[in-house]
Amino acid sequence: MNFIPYGKQSITQEDIDTVVETLTSSYLTTGPKVKEFENALSNYCGAKYVLVISNGTAALHLASLVLLNKEDKVLTTPNSFLATSNAILYAQAKPIFIDIAKDGNIDLDLCEEELKKDSSIKAIYVVAFSGNLVNQTKLNYLRKTYNIKILEDNAHAVGAVYDGIKSGSCTSSDISIFSFHPVKHLTTAEGGAIATNSKEIYEKLLMLRSHGIMKTPDMKPWEYEMKDLGFNYRISDIQCALGISQLKRLPEFIDRRFEIAKIYDKAFENTIVKPLYTFDGKSSYHLYVVQVDFSKLNINKEILFNKLKEKNIGIQLHYMPINRQPYYKSLGYGNENIPNMDKYYKECFSLPMYPLLSNEEQEYVIKSLFEVLR
Ligand SMILES: Cc1ncc(COP(=O)(O)O)c(C=O)c1O
Repeated sequence: MNFIPYGKQSITQEDIDTVVETLTSSYLTTGPKVKEFENALSNYCGAKYVLVISNGTAALHLASLVLLNKEDKVLTTPNSFLATSNAILYAQAKPIFIDIAKDGNIDLDLCEEELKKDSSIKAIYVVAFSGNLVNQTKLNYLRKTYNIKILEDNAHAVGAVYDGIKSGSCTSSDISIFSFHPVKHLTTAEGGAIATNSKEIYEKLLMLRSHGIMKTPDMKPWEYEMKDLGFNYRISDIQCALGISQLKRLPEFIDRRFEIAKIYDKAFENTIVKPLYTFDGKSSYHLYVVQVDFSKLNINKEILFNKLKEKNIGIQLHYMPINRQPYYKSLGYGNENIPNMDKYYKECFSLPMYPLLSNEEQEYVIKSLFEVLR
């Protein structure tokens, strides 16, 4: 059996042809494909404005510069890739780590307790962990009641829908971001997007993406004005061509992820392997996470990882608690009371989940997992 990773891209001949066509066109970097991809994403997720960008981390960086001020307190989750809370630090604001709920997402009830205690909190950064949007009704309620900014890190959740609310529509948030890294739902190699319904936010982001520069029709042909300290976070036409082609295939990708999730759900029914949540049509399943109580077994998680690796299966842990990372400890974090996150860290791991995972490979993963756990 060839190595089975936890996630990987699916590239067809059509994807390749589209990229090659762009390579031979007049534009390699910013050209017509950038706007075309932005329009296609905006149509897909329903946000008024979408800006594509060099990667998801850059998306979080610019979003944070627009949403936050120095020293702002921001509630966020320890269960994410580092980029989510790093972006709060980029804006010289202060992340506050809140424990997770049973589904791996930030616990919004705990967020409300914090908001009641501390009226100086300015924002919440939520992550749709594994592809599962947080409760949108509660998020909207917190946003309005406490007059705070909301950022949805939907790097895991392209294509997810919560009670009719599409991921990236920004129905309950100021900004949503996506990542198009190859393990995600669709890829542009490196790449990301920022969605918003605010024209003001969009215009600031546009400037920051390209050196803080603005050009208006009344200027002389050679003129441009630098209005802010921006960056080069542009994405190329070549990458956007791939993104456009991949976006057309998104429904097929999600359907396949659903099929894989249902097969895992069934295989783990009434066993020691507990899915973090079972299929209900809401999650777009970037990850399929399971929980095993190792205290009742003869092996620990490290042995499980190593034994499965010997069998050519690459399970993964998403994530180590961010607040316990050495850099965060050096800033005074690390002693938060986050019992659910600690339990999650001990017991959970992600199984292979990607459209090209064959039924035969998935059967092999399930069989091998039970063999090792026994
Ligand atoms: C939740 C989350 N946010 C942000 C990012 C950053 O995205 P990128 O790798 O495109 O910079 C990732 C990437 O893994 C992620 O998983």
